[in-house]
Parts: sequence; structure tokens; C-alpha cells
Amino acid sequence: MSIEHEVKRRRTFAIISHPDAGKTTLTEKLLLYAGAIHIAGSVKARKASRHATSDWMEIEKQRGISVASSVMQMEYRDCVINLLDTPGHQDFSEDTYRVLTAVDAALMVIDAANGVEAQTMRLLQVCRARNTPIITFINKMDREVREPFDLLNEIERTLGMETIPFTWPIGMGKLFHGAYDLREQHMRVFRPGEDRAGQEKIEIVTDLESPAAQERFNLGLNHAWQEIQLLQEASPEFNRDEFLSGKQTPVFFGSAINNFGVQEVLDTLVDLAPAPNPRLAIQRKVLPTEQKFSGLVFKIQANMNPAHRDRIAFVRICSGEFKRGMNLKVVRSGKDIRTSTVVSFLSQRRELLETAFAGDIIGIPNHGTLQLGDTLTEGDNLQFTGLPFFAPEIFRTVEIADPLRSKQLNLGLTQLGEEGAIQVFRPHIGSMLLLGAVGALQFEVVAHRLEHEYGVAARIIPAKYQLARWITADDPRELQRFITANDYRIAYDAVGAPTFLATFAAEISVAEENWPTIHFHKMREHA
Ligand code: G4P
Repeated sequence: MSIEHEVKRRRTFAIISHPDAGKTTLTEKLLLYAGAIHIAGSVKARKASRHATSDWMEIEKQRGISVASSVMQMEYRDCVINLLDTPGHQDFSEDTYRVLTAVDAALMVIDAANGVEAQTMRLLQVCRARNTPIITFINKMDREVREPFDLLNEIERTLGMETIPFTWPIGMGKLFHGAYDLREQHMRVFRPGEDRAGQEKIEIVTDLESPAAQERFNLGLNHAWQEIQLLQEASPEFNRDEFLSGKQTPVFFGSAINNFGVQEVLDTLVDLAPAPNPRLAIQRKVLPTEQKFSGLVFKIQANMNPAHRDRIAFVRICSGEFKRGMNLKVVRSGKDIRTSTVVSFLSQRRELLETAFAGDIIGIPNHGTLQLGDTLTEGDNLQFTGLPFFAPEIFRTVEIADPLRSKQLNLGLTQLGEEGAIQVFRPHIGSMLLLGAVGALQFEVVAHRLEHEYGVAARIIPAKYQLARWITADDPRELQRFITANDYRIAYDAVGAPTFLATFAAEISVAEENWPTIHFHKMREHA
């Protein structure tokens, strides 16, 4: 098959929501439709078995949050769908931001009782900044929830997208009767049942004006029918370009746990979501259909199997075809890696992968040769941009009870830093490592993992600094001059990029004024 054909049939998307909106449940049902799993509950079971094998996931379990994000692949209607899960808790949003750079579309799950929640808002900002197309699924219609128009207004107001309902709920809670498909102009009848299989037939009603339908679905009493008529007359037309640029979002109503409304979402993903997009490198724009392979490491997960100290680099293929065993160049280091054990992410097992195409996510086990933001090519000098690192907002240092364990501490922190679980800064002067995070819970995870994976009992203590800015200059000599003059405030991150540390924001303003040739950055985008 040609690369063009393979690229065209790929859809790579992330599923995003505030915790508890139903992301895990919906993921499970999507996989069920695609035939990737046969028993509902497997995704949760998988979550549970991961807990059992990996100790640090204890934190996740205790707090009922999902810390790590994962990747699943499935085939549906001749399309290969790559689904990337994201951690829901805001303290791990750095990881989520990076996952969002690896997708071409997003599926937003909203709890119909709660509407747009804080974490959804944050994630959506990232999607909006990148013009990522969004499909909206309003979940839990089998509960007493908010009025549909009220929810749409809220999405439009808070997320700045025009909503285009593709389906409309008829009733809610105990009186949830189904959803009217505004394009097909018929109603799908809701039937509760958590374990309903994917391909089961759904009852369809075409004539909602018949007295029998009016009576059966309580249409005289609830105003759904008037709303539907109103929508058919007044709702704006769906415009695919507006959707592709993130300005319009198709909206579906359903109930994930009852497997209702899920198939429409999957079909819409296949029909409307874009195939893999071109990606920007510093040097040029890279088309997915180019013959030569290129890819970007957007996530590193260490110690997935505590029995061996491996790490998996998650790579989004940006162009061409991957073939097992091929030699790939890590552009940052100039080193070659041989890819004989690359894995794909089929829903439950990690399988050895023979071939993959632009849009797919592959996992490359390694011992530290690959870092976040790395570009891999067949030899070309390309460096993809757009993988964000945010300046930490909280700093800590670590103290260890047993000084003989300092080697393990250093190893642990270096690896966790390379993985992006936390940012680790090495001071220009002195040896006390500085840890930076965007969310406080990240420190907890680090302390837990240091203890369980590296055998180091560490105490995380407050640090003197509160802010960091990456520094660059057009003239490297100027940068060196700045570093020498401020040496006690300089630290280097995981890839050796220099940062300027400050206790107060005013110190940064002063430095900016005094050193006009130095650029101070809140975000770093590539290695
Ligand atoms: P998350 O990944 O977004 O955090 O959410 P998750 O799927 O775990 O769902 C959160 C809770 O909402 C779960 O209940 C789940 O069963 C429930 N839920 C999901 N979809 C629906 C729906 O369509 N209708 C209703 N009524 N509930 C739904 P839980 O009690 O927290 O967990 P569990 O005991 O069911 O596992």
C-alpha cells in the first residue's frame, strides 16, 4: 500500500475532560465498537492491573486520578484510529499539553450535570492555541442534568467555539428517551444497560409527530420536539473548514456507560476529523506523505516494568513509514539507534511492531538515548518545534537521610527529569539539584518514585527560588557574559538549556532591563 493511502486512513486524537466526566468509560466503549476489546470493563481492569504491577501508581489509586497518559490503537471502518488518553488532574497538565501536540483532533467529554469544568477549560486553551479541531460529547444524559441549550451556551461562552448539535437529547434522567439525529432526521431510542455489546441494533423512530411517538416519548410534556424544530430552522450550518480550524465543534449527547451516542462520535471522527497534518520543523514544513521517516518524542515513560529499568519513548510519526529494524538518527545527539524492539499500542497488549505510518504513535524502549522533544529521522537534519516545556511555578530541593544514596538520588532525579515527570535543574555553581514543577502533586509522585524505584528516602524541602526563565541570545558570547555575571543564579535543565533563577518577578524585569541582548522565555519549545 502507498504511504498516501495509509496516511489518509489515519485519525489520531486525544480524549480530554475534567476528572470524572466519563473519559475512561467512553474510551472503553470506543474500543468496544472497534472490536479492540470484547468485554466492557477491560480498560478499567487494565488500569487496575497497572496499579498492581507498578507501585507508584498507588498515588493514582489513592487519589482516584489518572497520572500517566496512554496510547491505544484500533481499526474501525477501514481507518486506523490512534487514541491518546490524557491525565485528568491539573497538576499533570504539562504531560497533557505535550500529548496534545501529538494529535490532529480532540474529543472533549463534558459531564452534562457539571458543564464546562476547570480542567476542560485549561486543556481547551491549549487546543485552541493550536487550532485543534474538537468534537464534543455531552455525557451522562441518563442523569438529572442541565438543559442542553444552557450547556451549549456555556461551551460557546467559555471555550469560544460555535457549537453545532449533531444530535439532540429527548428528555433526561429517568425520562431520557433517546437522541434525535439532526442530519439523519430520526431518533435513536435509548435503552439502559451497561454491558450492551458494541454492534447491537438500536431502535430507530422516524416519525416523531405521530401520536404514538408523542405519547411514548412524552413529547407533549418535554420541550425537546420544539427545540429540535427550532434547531432545524435556526441552527448554523456545519462548516468543515470552521471545524478544522477549531472554530466550530460538532456536539453529541449520550451516555457512555450505557453505550449510547458513542458510535455517532466514532463515525464522526472517521468522517470529519483530519488525517495527519503537516508538522513544523525549524528547517521547513514536513508533509506526512513524504517518503522518509521522521518523528517527534512527545512523552517518555520510565520504569513501565519495574523488573527492568526500561523507558519507553512515545514517538509521533510525522512523515513516511516506519519499518522495524531501521536505523534512525537522533538529531540532537547525532547518534543512530537501531529499532528492533519498537512496540505499538494495541488496546491491551504491547506488541512488537513491524510497520507504522505518519500519524501513528510508536514506543521505543531505550536507556536514556531519547529525550523529550527529540526528533528522529532517516538521516535528515530536522528539528520539530512545538513541544512545550513551561517555566516551573514551584521549586523544591531534596534532602536525603542517607548520604551514601546520593548516587541513586542523582540517577533517579536525572531519569525522572528526562521523562518530564518533573524538571530538574543543575546549578552552575554548587551541586544541590533544584526541582521545578507546575503542579505540587508532581513532587509527591517524585518522592514516592524515588523511594520505590530507586530506593532513596528523600525529603522534599522548599527552595529559595520561585521563578525561572530560559535564556537565549542571538550572540553566544553575550549569553556567556550574562552567565558569568549571574553565575550563582544560573541552572541547566535536562537538555542543558540555561535558565535564570529568581526569587521575585521584579528581579526578572531588572535583568531584562539591564541585559537587552538576552531573551527571557517562559516556555521552551525544543531541545
Ligand atoms: P474519568 O475517566 O473521566 O475520570 O471518568 P470515568 O469514566 O471513570 O467515570 C466517572 C464516573 O462516572 C464513573 O462512576 C462512571 O461509571 C460514571 N459514568 C460514566 N459515564 C456515565 C454515564 O453515561 N452515566 C452515568 N450515570 N454515569 C456515568 P464511579 O462511580 O466513579 O466509578 P465506577 O464505580 O462506576 O467505576
